[in-house]
Amino acid sequence: MNDLTRRDFIQSTAIAAATGAIASRASASTQAAPKLTHPVVVASGNGMAATQKAADMIAAGADTLDAVIAGVNIVEKDPDDMSVGYGGLPNEDGIVELDSCVMHGPTCRAGSVAALRNIKTPSRVAQLVMERTDHVMIVGEGALRFARAHGFEEVNLLTDKARRHWLKWKEDHSKKDDWLGAPDAPDADNKGARADSEPMFTYGTINCCGLSPTGEVSGVTTTSGLSYKIPGRVGDSPIIGAGLFVDRTVGAAGSTGRGEAVIKSCGAHTVVEAMRHGMSPTEACLHGLKRIVDTTTELRLLDEKGRPKFDVKFYAVSIDGRHGGAALWSDAHYAVNTDGKNRREPCAHLFQRPPKKG
Ligand code: GLY
Repeated sequence: MNDLTRRDFIQSTAIAAATGAIASRASASTQAAPKLTHPVVVASGNGMAATQKAADMIAAGADTLDAVIAGVNIVEKDPDDMSVGYGGLPNEDGIVELDSCVMHGPTCRAGSVAALRNIKTPSRVAQLVMERTDHVMIVGEGALRFARAHGFEEVNLLTDKARRHWLKWKEDHSKKDDWLGAPDAPDADNKGARADSEPMFTYGTINCCGLSPTGEVSGVTTTSGLSYKIPGRVGDSPIIGAGLFVDRTVGAAGSTGRGEAVIKSCGAHTVVEAMRHGMSPTEACLHGLKRIVDTTTELRLLDEKGRPKFDVKFYAVSIDGRHGGAALWSDAHYAVNTDGKNRREPCAHLFQRPPKKG
């Protein structure tokens, strides 16, 4: 191809791409509003109270983001949920560090905080990052100072129950931590592999996405992250496009589980883009999981059949009101509120869990 032809080719390709983009945006924005009579709210399995609260608020006319945040606040403030907010399991130093992000579909805005200490409701701080700053993400000490400036109460997030779990992990000198060591170190291949079957470790999180009958959609993800993580470790939950993604013309998706795998695959964004190209929410969630399987190459993370030893779950709602959830491993559920009813639905899955021994 000579230079002139190459330039013409590049220009025409760019124009075609731009025209395509405009056409697809136009078709998305002119698509018929969903014929819904009730909100549709989906959440991870620990989010039954969140879906009920958010659906009630949306039905009463609340903004979808205010509603899903109010929903997850119930779990963030619950000392018995050891994977989110107050009562969450701490990092390896015994300090609870929280991650959260929010996306407001109607205005295409987002906010996020990571490694935030001492504040029970990181989702509300993330919402204020979105509303009261020109930034999307504030982390660590800066996030705490930002929350302080907005009048958030500071508390020690480590409950006695969580402290006792952490102390047991520390006293046992567990070899299950996140330090891999040098490649030639003895036992190097066996480190950093926290199988889901070990209940002392959790990546637990809550994701909640809500759609109003008028077709507005928003989402939130919030977590205390991986238990006993290296201080400052940030998972997928506060990363826009990983732990959460919302597109006002397509729908919303979020994730729970091993954040490192979700970050590498741009998980929630991958799910939303799959819905944009025609997949149902469940198919799109499975598509996101297959991407994770395809890109997990570390032997320490794979079982003898080459399957991930960890779990990831995706949850999604499409702009026309369909919903779905899928997990790498069987026997998972997600929470959903549709037609004014709150219930648990089984997640689709890629792999069948082996029966429990004994
Ligand atoms: N998905 C939660 C985390 O990895 O921190």
